[in-house]
Amino acid sequence: MLREHSTPLYIYSLALMKRNFTSFDGAFGERPHAIHYALKANSNKAIVKTFADLGGGADVVSRGELYRALQSGIDPENIVFAGVGKTFEEIKKGLKKNILAFNVESIPELKLIAKIGKRIGKVAPVSMRINPGIDPGTDPYIATGLKESKFGVSKEKTLMAYRFIRDNTWLEAKGVHTHIGSQITSLEPFVRSAKFIQDFICNLATEGISLEFVDMGGGFGIPYGKEQNVPQRTEFVNSILESIDSKLKIIIEPGRSLVGGAGMLITRVIRTKESSGNRFTIVDAGMNDFVRPSLYNAHHEIIPVRNSCEKKARSDVVGPVCESGDFLGKNRLLPQTLGEGDYLAVMDVGAYGYEMSSNYNSRPRPLELLVKHNKFAVIRSKESFGDLTKHEVLPGFLR
Ligand code: LLP
Repeated sequence: MLREHSTPLYIYSLALMKRNFTSFDGAFGERPHAIHYALKANSNKAIVKTFADLGGGADVVSRGELYRALQSGIDPENIVFAGVGKTFEEIKKGLKKNILAFNVESIPELKLIAKIGKRIGKVAPVSMRINPGIDPGTDPYIATGLKESKFGVSKEKTLMAYRFIRDNTWLEAKGVHTHIGSQITSLEPFVRSAKFIQDFICNLATEGISLEFVDMGGGFGIPYGKEQNVPQRTEFVNSILESIDSKLKIIIEPGRSLVGGAGMLITRVIRTKESSGNRFTIVDAGMNDFVRPSLYNAHHEIIPVRNSCEKKARSDVVGPVCESGDFLGKNRLLPQTLGEGDYLAVMDVGAYGYEMSSNYNSRPRPLELLVKHNKFAVIRSKESFGDLTKHEVLPGFLR
């Protein structure tokens, strides 16, 4: 495989992604539920189709993601549309495509949805994203349920929003939504937010407002390395089920926990270098290919592809991009003789890996492969140098 394709390249395991989905699915037992894959984790159409084929729905946050979800065969009735900045065009498109619901992030947005519904003559299905004010204990960049966060609406305002929906001909309350953050590695924040939502549903019931579903969002953490202790998918689901009224359909929006552990990034060592007592292993994948370590200081295991029991030495694994923040791992134990032409695998990169890649330093984005048993298929070819400039236009005064 490495002889056929140039590195860096992403590889995903179909079997693992399917297993992750079915373990979530099985955990619900008889309870009405739906698993809406959060496309933002990895929107390659082969991956979205994998979940569509298993009966999965989608959580989308842009018109582009809506396009991808529909193109990959996800039933519009299984699509929720989230995001703080939905535009007029995005709302109109979602309405026309008959999606399950807009997860609404503010009162002005709600009013705009009603206006568009009226204009095109369609009752808009909505669920308010409530901000429960819960600290999920993750990186501040990916905590979304804190009171001061830009996401969701406070409890008091949400209650007002549902009264507004009840009294508006062009809106229909379908559900209630929350999402408190990502890479949450304990059950407690989920129990707290589920209880919060259950209380809120009771408040709504006293006002004669009933819903069809509760959307608990995503955020289920995965272990990044053997030592990290993270609850099982079934435990996450159970922590929610135990706190929510059994009649309502429960939606979850996992992204990372479906695809994160199913992907690795293969990179080739260009050379090694010593500088002021530091050892650097310079590889052909940079922060443009995989930005999580640079952006969040995220830890990903890095494993030599060639197995060896030789002596190890500590080194920083860095990319070729011209920034000191361009690293894949710091102070890693790697075989002492590891050098030019050897391959390394950066683990657990299936979520927010390729998806957050860029062309920084004019580096074409890498290839993506999907493995099924002992076969593999290219699911996205490597970008060419022509791709780098294809949308650029030389103005007449420079020709
Ligand atoms: N639903 C909503 C409304 C979300 O905002 C997100 C993620 C998800 C579902 C999926 O969350 P997951 O199950 O993947 O944790 N780029 C960051 C993660 C950003 C997550 C944003 N929202 C990273 O690389 O860690």
